[in-house]
Amino acid sequence: YVLGVDLGTSGVKVLLVNKKGKVEYEKTKSLTLIQEKTGYAEQDPDEWVSQTYEAIKELVTDNAVDPAKITGLSFAGQMHGLVLLNNKNQVIRNAILWNDTRTSEECQEIYSILGEDRLLEITKNIALEGFTLPKLLWVKKHEPINFAKTTTFLLPKDYVRYQLTGKLHMDYSDAAGTLLLDVEKNRWSKEICELFEIPTKICPELINSIQEVGTLTEEASTNSRLNMATKVFAGGADNACAAIGSGVLSKEKTLASIGTSGVVLSYEESGDKKFEGKVHYFNHGAPDAFYTMGVTLAAGHSLSWFKETFAHDICFDELIQEASTVNPGANGLLFTPYINGERTPHVDANIRGSFIGIDASHKRQHFTRAVLEGITFSLQESVTILRESGKKIESIISLGGGAKSDLWLQMQADIFQANVIRLTSEQGPGMGAAMIASVGVGWFNSLADCGDVFIQEEKVYKPIEENVKVYHDLFLLYKEVYSSTTKIN
Ligand code: XUL
Repeated sequence: YVLGVDLGTSGVKVLLVNKKGKVEYEKTKSLTLIQEKTGYAEQDPDEWVSQTYEAIKELVTDNAVDPAKITGLSFAGQMHGLVLLNNKNQVIRNAILWNDTRTSEECQEIYSILGEDRLLEITKNIALEGFTLPKLLWVKKHEPINFAKTTTFLLPKDYVRYQLTGKLHMDYSDAAGTLLLDVEKNRWSKEICELFEIPTKICPELINSIQEVGTLTEEASTNSRLNMATKVFAGGADNACAAIGSGVLSKEKTLASIGTSGVVLSYEESGDKKFEGKVHYFNHGAPDAFYTMGVTLAAGHSLSWFKETFAHDICFDELIQEASTVNPGANGLLFTPYINGERTPHVDANIRGSFIGIDASHKRQHFTRAVLEGITFSLQESVTILRESGKKIESIISLGGGAKSDLWLQMQADIFQANVIRLTSEQGPGMGAAMIASVGVGWFNSLADCGDVFIQEEKVYKPIEENVKVYHDLFLLYKEVYSSTTKIN
């Protein structure tokens, strides 16, 4: 067996996976979010470690798994979170997470000191509050003593890996989200470090996601119940691991995932394209590869908000069933899902959503259908950016909430104008981590070979011509709503 450890924000989930890619057992332990002020989001790195130990220990002991049969493990991790270590490799302060928004001033500082063009040239990404460099600058300004004590900075799962193995590293796929990495050249940017007075020695050694880091320390073996000989592989950012775990491992592969937020993620063979920051552009977990990613902030969240507010008397399946009685286009009703602001393509925290074209004949089912369509239009904006860069997107793997109903899968095919694929089973980033370990222990020669065995397509939804036409026209209108409604907010 191998273990895939997915260090998320609400919990750490561990998958026990066999040679055929089947998840035999899984265990999740919850994590505490610390929010001392509005916009703050922190966690205690040592809780990540203790809950990872607990999850592994319970998985092994509850199911009487022989630890000797677990030969490797790897990680998927929440991105961007800042972990600061002192010269004894102890945590200096709580980690500041990806969803912490205290750093708007630092983002502006990055633009004014380095300039947006140079930032894009080096890091391929724009400065967002969630990313790591703004957090480092915040600590430097507001907690100079903590900054002075820092001898290493890590990202969340790197700290857990350090506790398991005693080795300090960061993998490229996660380092890409720091705004300190030269993404194309795969190295820390000396220019950015010097300009912002970040000592380069606090940047850890960079490695590939599939690289072996070592085996367990005696303490980690005792705490987790795993054998000391268990091999530990670097692992990757949760989005990179989600890409691996759903087979986005060659240039024709793209996924659309609808969770609380929504993601369109596509494989890129090179890091030299110019997206001008319209989408995120990060190193993949597969060696020498990259991916682009567009984000809809409130995807599934728009639907759950709508259900809680207007349809709490029925379940999700009934709500979707109702919506399927309405024709594509919801009889002229249009929704934009900006209920928490938007990331791609607008990067606007202040924009708010809207229903447009309400008619006296509209019933709840029209509103539900409009919400599903609006979320999908938002994802289509990301698909469009990728297509405009010259990429051919003929098929898209659907994951999360969008893959749970025939209605939404068909809608995605009609709006994306692509074949939409549902997989037989979907395990998210943890499966990508398990695939990294599977390649590491030698079951497969490459992640792609592993994907051929672990990932199967179940059904393909093809675009229906008359629906494509309806949605094409409606999408033109959808794109106009943003600029019209910015004036209201
Ligand atoms: C990506 C991002 C999130 C976190 C969530 O840029 O901020 O997807 O990785 O864990």
